[in-house]
Amino acid sequence: MTLPTKQLDPLDNPRMRKIIDDTIAEYGDQNGALMVVLNHIQERIGFITKAMQAYIAKNLNVPVSKVHGVVSFYSFFTTEPRGKHVVKFCIGTACYVGGVSQLIDKAKQVLGVEPGQTTPDGLITLEVCRCVGACSQAPVVVVDDTNRGRVKPSQFGKILTDIQKSEAAA
Ligand code: FES
Repeated sequence: MTLPTKQLDPLDNPRMRKIIDDTIAEYGDQNGALMVVLNHIQERIGFITKAMQAYIAKNLNVPVSKVHGVVSFYSFFTTEPRGKHVVKFCIGTACYVGGVSQLIDKAKQVLGVEPGQTTPDGLITLEVCRCVGACSQAPVVVVDDTNRGRVKPSQFGKILTDIQKSEAAA
């Protein structure tokens, strides 16, 4: 579930609070409970705010620094809602050498947001990721789980505007 960018913390929303409490009640006693709980909450709510991290830490009786460490380490977790579309830049070695930073610059220029941020209309989230295994196609951009290889900065603006146009036409 992905929600609008401006909203109350899910802990202040009774329905979402119940999802969090039910998840902790169901999986909190398992081995590796922290990862299981975080995965379920990320999937069902779409993000895990700092306040949610502190709440989960308290209820699982683990240090909040540990929860924060897990959320920060794995790119699957986010602290804010993702946009309707996610554009990921591979920053593995081949893509880095292949010029992915120029694509990131182009995205910043076109959208006005950086990796880790979502456009104010909630349409596109930019992220970076590790090697996606398509190094021969570097630089690689992953648009909604589809790899686009050998992307040039001159083509990249069109990828973004195509997303925007497809939404405007929908
Ligand atoms: S480094 Fe980008 S696909 Fe391998």
